[in-house]
Amino acid sequence: MSHRILLLGAPGAGKGTQSAKLADEYGVEHVTTGDALRANKEMETEYGTPKSFMDAGELVPDPVVNEIVKAALEDADGFVLDGYPRNLDQAEYLSEITDLDAVVLLDVDEEVLVDRLTGRRVCDDCGANYHVDFQPPEEPGVCDECGGDLVQREDDTEETARERLEVFYDNTEPVVDHFRDEGVLVEVDGEATPDEVFERIRDVVEN
Ligand code: AP5
Repeated sequence: MSHRILLLGAPGAGKGTQSAKLADEYGVEHVTTGDALRANKEMETEYGTPKSFMDAGELVPDPVVNEIVKAALEDADGFVLDGYPRNLDQAEYLSEITDLDAVVLLDVDEEVLVDRLTGRRVCDDCGANYHVDFQPPEEPGVCDECGGDLVQREDDTEETARERLEVFYDNTEPVVDHFRDEGVLVEVDGEATPDEVFERIRDVVEN
């Protein structure tokens, strides 16, 4: 069975962590607009670079992001989509280019989100994700997987993290409501260990 899974949630809810595990479990593509944009941060577009929006915690303009998602989904035989759609226009565009088998919302309290974001560290070389308290590396500042340096994402300062949360509540919560109104949204409590949250999502996807 092909899996077309959409994972929704606020910044720091664990979308990246869980999407990677799900894509691995089901052998499908992990499509993440955040990573795609970070890999093309300096790309010149008619709106400016993605970096100029991301470092301020704002959304990158829809045409740039829509094109990335369309290209990524076109050839995918199943996917876990993470970071998109983030507003109602993106949701409408998504419905034009694909169907979905499951829409899952990861629910996490706002102060837990801020702790997760400000404590996150990512490997400069391989992109592996850590948290100084919740998922620490064996040696502080060093990636367990490749020995690379662990750094803080530029948008993970407390000020920008809070701005990203505001953008989520203003722009992306209407998307959550849209899927809820359609009766296709399943909410999963995201406040547990990553393995426990994964089991909860797997239950939803398989049942
Ligand atoms: P993006 O990269 O998508 O960031 P985000 O949505 O803000 O999500 P995060 O990556 O911060 O969090 P996450 O939910 O993936 O959590 P994670 O698993 O890492 O987007 C960045 C920017 O790109 C946006 O601000 C925007 O500018 C632009 N952009 C992206 N998509 C766009 C779009 N569609 N349209 C326009 N612009 C777009 O976990 C977070 C931390 O918590 C980690 O340290 C992790 O170790 C820890 N953690 C995870 N799960 C648990 C757990 N269960 N218990 C304890 N700790 C945990």
